[in-house]
Amino acid sequence: MMNAVAKLSRTTLSWIDARFPLTKLWNEHAAKYYAPKNFNFWYFFGSLALLVLVLQILTGIWLTMNYKPSAEQAFASVEYIMRDVEWGWLIRYIHAVGASAFFVIVYLHMFRGLMYGSYKTPRELLWITGMFIYLTLMAEAFTGYLLPWGQMSYWGAQVITSLFGVIPFVGDSLALWIRGDYVISDVTLNRFFAFHVIALPLILLILAVVHVMALHEVGSNNPDGIEIKATKNANGVPLDGIPFHPYYTVKDLFGAAVFLIIFLAIVFFTPEFGGWFIEPDNFVPADPLQTPAHIKPLWYFTPFYAILRAVPHPLGGFLAMGAAVFLFFLLPWLDRSVVNSIRYRGWMYRVALFTFAVSFVALGYLGMQLPTPTSAFFARFFSVLYFAFFVFMPIYTRIDRTRPVPKRVVYK
Ligand code: HEM
Repeated sequence: MMNAVAKLSRTTLSWIDARFPLTKLWNEHAAKYYAPKNFNFWYFFGSLALLVLVLQILTGIWLTMNYKPSAEQAFASVEYIMRDVEWGWLIRYIHAVGASAFFVIVYLHMFRGLMYGSYKTPRELLWITGMFIYLTLMAEAFTGYLLPWGQMSYWGAQVITSLFGVIPFVGDSLALWIRGDYVISDVTLNRFFAFHVIALPLILLILAVVHVMALHEVGSNNPDGIEIKATKNANGVPLDGIPFHPYYTVKDLFGAAVFLIIFLAIVFFTPEFGGWFIEPDNFVPADPLQTPAHIKPLWYFTPFYAILRAVPHPLGGFLAMGAAVFLFFLLPWLDRSVVNSIRYRGWMYRVALFTFAVSFVALGYLGMQLPTPTSAFFARFFSVLYFAFFVFMPIYTRIDRTRPVPKRVVYK
């Protein structure tokens, strides 16, 4: 019996292979794709980002089956999903918590890049595709947040779309064009729905494929920042490489299991996560006549929101916020170090990266608070540190005293 099954699958596979490069793709990207053998904890997050992307798309499809993108019905349709649709509460909570999980994962994934210099030659395009993913993800989260049509959905979108109004000459027309109305309205909700459920997820998916293609073209970096392709055996296989499958498929499956335990514990026991993942104000239906006392975005946008508010001039704040994101694109060219990994860099880069990470978290916290003179002072202080990381990078990465990099990866 087993023999017959094995034979049938072999013939089916060769039938397919004669018509589509299935085995070829599998070998190129898994069984014979050699990844550095010294991957550590920080290398879980790429595959986890893929997992969450799939989870968001699947739960999104099922939410769309009962959600109504209209100002009249949106809020009620979400309540209907939560109370009456079978398992609707679970699907919605996975999707809402999934949005925050996506950003946790992507921020850790990017931080890994900063630690190991993964954006440096020859991975510039890989990094840039990542940055486009990040921008698209921000747009995806922003458009999605309007859909439940709660108070914070409405007023958050109102604040952010109005920001475009500060651009000289074209600002007001631009804000009007984005909203399709003078204020956030049914028209806005409909177009945000179109972007959130089809345009942006499609772009995200395409970008994720391009991202992995770019990665497989140049090969992974690693915690030592060494090019494993530089040392190959007689068959052209990197000496410090191991086949992605089965070694890293198993490692990633383990990572996915641990992630899902933590993720589902949050989904089941504290889906709002103390107001961090779903804000209390969003359990109140949108009311265009009543502005909430404290309008703020969810945690993943608050570092940039804090930078926006730190600059007293509206246009200046808008530009600073844009620059805070845009500067990441330039990292491959700002970093002049001769080594990739933080392991072999000197104290300057370590201090700079640590200060940057602290500033990012501090700004994230400050962006959630009501503005006071003290919080404004600290927001300015940390914004300066944030920008200093990028602006002075060409200098401190060049003069930093690096340590000699070993020829082969360090693997214990
Ligand atoms: C939907 C979001 C994303 C997905 C699904 C994704 C997927 C992946 C995967 C599967 C890997 C290989 C595994 C790993 O190194 O962890 C990877 C590597 C990488 N990603 Fe992403 N990524 C995403 C977002 C980003 C973003 C936002 C950036 C940066 C702006 C980025 C930059 C990189 C870099 C530089 C590498 C190579 C790292 C190295 O080899 O050290 N990715 N990504």
